[in-house]
Amino acid sequence: MDHFATSTSTATPQLTQPTAQPTAGPAAEPTAQPTAEPTPQPTAQPAASAVRSMVPNDDPLWWRSAVIYQVYTRSFADANGDGTGDLAGVRSRLGYLRDLGVDALWFTPWYASPLADGGYDVSDYRQIHPAFGTLADAEALISEALAYGIRTIIDVVPNHISDRHPWFQQALAAGPGSPERERFWFRPGGGANGESMPNNWVSNFSGDTWTRTTNPDGTPGEWYLHLFAPEQPDLNWNHPDVRREHEEILKFWFDRGVAGVRIDSAALLVKDAALPEVPENPGPGEHPNTDRDELHDIYRSWRRLADSYPGTRMLVGEIWLPDIERFAKYLRPDELHTAFNFDFLARPWDAAELRASIDATLAAHAPVGAPSTWVLSNHDVTRPVTRYGRADSSFAFATKRAGTPTNLETGRRRARAAALLTAALPGSLYIYQGDELGLPEVENLPAELLQDPMHFRSGGVDPGRDGCRVPLPWRGTTPPFGFSPAGASAAPWLPQPAEWAALSVQAQQSDPSSMLWLYREALRVRRQQPGLGDGPLAWISGPDGVLAFARGTAFVNVTNLSERDVALPEHLSILLSSAPLHDGMLPPDSTVWLRTQHEPPENAPRH
Ligand code: GLC
Repeated sequence: MDHFATSTSTATPQLTQPTAQPTAGPAAEPTAQPTAEPTPQPTAQPAASAVRSMVPNDDPLWWRSAVIYQVYTRSFADANGDGTGDLAGVRSRLGYLRDLGVDALWFTPWYASPLADGGYDVSDYRQIHPAFGTLADAEALISEALAYGIRTIIDVVPNHISDRHPWFQQALAAGPGSPERERFWFRPGGGANGESMPNNWVSNFSGDTWTRTTNPDGTPGEWYLHLFAPEQPDLNWNHPDVRREHEEILKFWFDRGVAGVRIDSAALLVKDAALPEVPENPGPGEHPNTDRDELHDIYRSWRRLADSYPGTRMLVGEIWLPDIERFAKYLRPDELHTAFNFDFLARPWDAAELRASIDATLAAHAPVGAPSTWVLSNHDVTRPVTRYGRADSSFAFATKRAGTPTNLETGRRRARAAALLTAALPGSLYIYQGDELGLPEVENLPAELLQDPMHFRSGGVDPGRDGCRVPLPWRGTTPPFGFSPAGASAAPWLPQPAEWAALSVQAQQSDPSSMLWLYREALRVRRQQPGLGDGPLAWISGPDGVLAFARGTAFVNVTNLSERDVALPEHLSILLSSAPLHDGMLPPDSTVWLRTQHEPPENAPRH
C-alpha cells in the first residue's frame, strides 16, 4: 500500500474520560521564551501539614495523561559549586521545567546513601543525601514545584537497602540465627565448609548474587543474597518489619506532599523462601525471585495507603517483564496506577516492531483500565539519539558494548520523530532529563571516573550507565556549561564533552530547529489539542513503513520509518513536524502532527 486509506481501524476501547493536563498554580501558561536563567524562588518552607493540604486534588485523573520529567539530581544543576547537582539547583530551574511544560518531576533516589549504585542503595529514607541538600530543601522544593503546577514523585527501592543501613549493620553484628538477620536472606553455604553459595541465581548486575560474611572471630560466616551489587542486600518481604517500615516511609513522604512513588525493581521483592534454583522455563508465577503472585498483596496495601491521602497519589512500577499479560496484572484497579512500558523502549526503529509494541501495550492495558506509559529512555539505558543511530537500535542490557558504530545524525532525526510519536500515544509520557536537549550517550568517559557497578561487575565488558548520566549543559561555551556556578570549587562529577556547547539550553532555547524547541512545542500542543493524552487511538492504514493514527476527531500523527518520502493524508494544517517537509512530503525518519478537522463547538471543552 502506498497511500493513506480514509477508513480507520478499530479504536482501542476508551475506559475513562480523557483528561486535560493539570495546570494548577500561578504559572499555568507557558511563556513564549523559556527561562534558562535561575528563577528567584520563594524562601518560606511550609510545615509538612501545610504541604499536605496544598496538594491539588481538583483533577483525580492527572496521572492518566501526565508528562513526567525524570530528574537525576546528581546531574541536573549544581547550586553550591561542588560539582554534584543538588536540590537547590533544581529549585533554581523550576521556571525552565514549567516552560518545558511538564506536569510532574520524578526524582531518582535523593536519600542518604553511600552511592554504591547512584543512590539505589539507601541508608536512610528520612534524610536527603548531604550532597543534594536537606530535608527542608526537599520540602521547599515540593511546595515550590506545586506553586508552578508541577507535582513531585519520589523513588523508593524496596527490594534492597544499603549495606550501611542500620538494619544490615545490626544483622551483621548480631550473627547467625538472630532476629536481626531475618529481615534479609542470610543462609549458610553448601559444601564441607560452607564455601559454596546457597544457590546459583545470577545477578541483574552480572556475577554472583551471594556474598559471604566474616564472623566476629574472623572465620568465614553465612552468605547473604543481593540480586544487584553486594552493597545492596535484598530484604525479606516475608518479614513484618520490612512491610511495616515501607508503609511508614510512604507515609513520611506522602505527608510531605509528594504526589507519587516510583517503585524500583517492583517485580523482584518477593522470593520463594526455599530459594530453589531457577527452573529452565519457569511458568507464570514460578520464577523463584521474579513476578511472584504474593507481590500483588503488597501493592494492594500500598494502594490503600495512597488512596487514604487527598488528591491522587500515584504508584508507578519499574517492571521489566517479557509477559505483558503478567505485567498488566500489576495495574488492576486496586494495585499500581501505571508501570513503565519498557517493551516500546527496547524495540528497534522499525514500523512493524513499534506497531506491534503499541498494539500489544494497548491491548494488555485495556482490560485493567490502566493508561499506558511511553518511555524513550531513563538513567539506565542508552540515550535515544545514540541508540537510534545504530544498525541495531533495539535495547538490551546484556548486549551493551563500547565502540558500536553510531550515526548521530540519523539518531537525532529518529529521536525527534520518536519524541513526537510517543507524545501522541495514549497515556502518560516520561522524559528523561537531557533528552529534551538531544544529548547523546557519552561513550568516552575516562575509565578512572566511571562509577557504575554494572560496568565493574561485567569485568569492564558492559560500558555501564554513566554515559547517560553526564551533567546537563545549561549555557556558555565551555564546561561546566552553567551546570555549576562560576567559580565552582570542583568540576562536574562526570566530565561534559566540549561539543555540548551546541546543545546547551541557552544555545537551543531560541532556535526553532532545536530539540528543546521541538519538545516544548510538542508538550504545548499535547496539552491543548483535544484527544491527546489518555483516550482512544484509531490506526489509519497507509504506506508500508508508516505509522499513522488519529487521536480524537481532529488530530493525526504520521511517522515515516520507511526510506522514502511519503505523501500526507488529507489535513487542514500542520501542527508540528520533526523535520522540514520535502515539497509537502514527509521525509524518512520523521513525524508530523496534522490538524484534520475543525473542532465542532460542542467539543471545545476537553472533558
Ligand atoms: C533499577 C534502577 C537502577 C538500579 C537498580 C537497582 O533498575 O533503575 O538504576 O541500579 O534498580 O536498584
